[in-house]
Amino acid sequence: MAATATDSRAQQDAHPSGDERFALLDKALKRARFEQDQLVELLHTAQEVFGYLSNDVLIYLARQLRLPPSRVLGVASFYHLFTFEAPGDHICTVCLGTACYVKGAEEVVEGTAQALGVPAGQTSDDGRLTLWTARCVGSCGLAPVVVFDGTVLGKQTTDELVTHIREVFAAEDAAAEEEEAG
Ligand code: FES
Repeated sequence: MAATATDSRAQQDAHPSGDERFALLDKALKRARFEQDQLVELLHTAQEVFGYLSNDVLIYLARQLRLPPSRVLGVASFYHLFTFEAPGDHICTVCLGTACYVKGAEEVVEGTAQALGVPAGQTSDDGRLTLWTARCVGSCGLAPVVVFDGTVLGKQTTDELVTHIREVFAAEDAAAEEEEAG
């Protein structure tokens, strides 16, 4: 079958790093026919594939869509759901939507940040934990809600959450020690 114009564009401009995640992004670009008005959709895909939007990824998207990088960055920055830094090994997202807020979610964020030494919106120095906040995550009946590594934890107090995270870390440490011991 003859190569289409979009095929040849993806081939010509394939990311030089050889990182296979860019091949996934290329597939999405092809599906979107390199349409500039698909930018937000493609940013979503990029974030799903890479976990965050690095400069490299933003510039690559800009090049493939024939858009100025400043435009791509501007659009990505406009939406709160995009993140520009690599998250830590574990991601803890505390919902600060209205239902969670009135049930004390703010205290949960502050208490967790203090207990674990990770300011809200940041990643711990050892790269182990990222503490994020979000607007309604859609489980208001369980407020205050926390999503830890993709698992929804309902009716959380600071103590429960901090204990849960410490237990996860302890289990991980124990597994690593066991592996080291052979
Ligand atoms: S407000 Fe937190 S889940 Fe809806």
